[in-house]
Amino acid sequence: MSNHTKKIMFCIGTRPEAIKLAPLILASKARNLDVQVVVTGQHHEMLVPFLEFFKIQVTDRLNVMQAHQSLSELTAKVLMQIQPLFTKNKPELLFVQGDTTTALGSALAAFYEKVPVVHVEAGLRTQDRYSPFPEEMNRKLIGGIAEYHFAPTETSAENLRREGITQNVWVTGNTGIDGLRICSEIIKNDNTDHPSATDKNLKTILVTCHRRENHGQPLENICSAFLEIVNHFEDTEIVFPVHLNPKVQTLVQQKLGNHPRIKLLKPLDYPDFVKWMQKSHILLTDSGGIQEEGPYFKKPILVMRESTDRPEGVAAGVAELVGSSREKIVSAVTRALTDEKYYQSFQKSENPYGDGFASEKILKHLGL
Ligand code: UD1
Ligand code: UDP
Repeated sequence: MSNHTKKIMFCIGTRPEAIKLAPLILASKARNLDVQVVVTGQHHEMLVPFLEFFKIQVTDRLNVMQAHQSLSELTAKVLMQIQPLFTKNKPELLFVQGDTTTALGSALAAFYEKVPVVHVEAGLRTQDRYSPFPEEMNRKLIGGIAEYHFAPTETSAENLRREGITQNVWVTGNTGIDGLRICSEIIKNDNTDHPSATDKNLKTILVTCHRRENHGQPLENICSAFLEIVNHFEDTEIVFPVHLNPKVQTLVQQKLGNHPRIKLLKPLDYPDFVKWMQKSHILLTDSGGIQEEGPYFKKPILVMRESTDRPEGVAAGVAELVGSSREKIVSAVTRALTDEKYYQSFQKSENPYGDGFASEKILKHLGL
């Protein structure tokens, strides 16, 4: 590329986008690129600490968040509010990550302004348009819009090729593992204890759950499973930082708010959450990012979803797809707690989601 300083824009809306774009932003700054960081405000409390942790300075702030709004309203707000920034800032590339409404809205607005889009974490698919919802459709649409596609794994690159996307597709690993590597390095010498830990001798089952497919009855079943597990295994505790989505908060507080060995926490800052992952015995989650991070710590990852867009972990034997029924969750956790051989089978040496240096590879492929 030419000698002029390239102007690049990153658009961030939610917690995982911050964690997964931060390493790329830091690497871009280290190369003295002209970096603009836009936050849409889709998440606020769950975003600001992450930007602060990685020392990311925001150039422009939008204001798209409102409780209980529809996906159409959210998408429309992202489109409308980001458009003027293309005129004002004149970026030459827009980086978006993953499959959120922020990523789709900003990619579409960039296309309308003829600004090429770089898609980070391209090619994840379940092939079920309603699971995860709306993310499966969001990332397909972004795949159609983007000019550069950075697939975390060969499986995701193959998904793109199958859809006829063959130009500018590269496999780099997931930048989330870069984030984890950077975070682990920063907290290496921090030996402070978890303020919320109940008893050091309890086995911690670390839980997160927020996906829209699990709202309502599945989440009720999931909570019933948690009660059954802690009541049966008195040497366990459940630590559950609860997502701020009101649909999740209300139900979880109602069902699980009163058990001495279930700790409902506010969403944790990244280093605190990483420390909990290190300490925990089992990870029980419907999160995408945690499925990628779990293998780094060699912990069993039990996935409370009917289908997963991260099949690599299941294929490698570091994760198991459990679903969201009470019986299946109880049965999988029971096995992980009682069958040592099964527990150890999750401890594989390689993380299928990358080596923690995806950002460097991405910038190199882009000639930046
Ligand atoms: C969003 C993404 C999802 C991603 C997840 C990561 C979409 C459609 N969904 O899901 O892909 O996996 O983030 O966490 O883009 N809220 C707050 N404060 C916050 C965050 C959320 O109050 O900091 C509340 C708001 O009432 C908001 C609601 O949670 O309306 C839902 O948030 P939203 O971003 O729409 O969807 P998520 O379920 O968080
Ligand atoms: N995470 C965190 N604090 C929490 C829960 C999760 O820092 O209380 C981190 C987690 O380590 C992972 C990311 O948030 O990097 C995953 O975000 P989330 O589950 O919201 O989104 P998804 O990955 O499902 O899109």
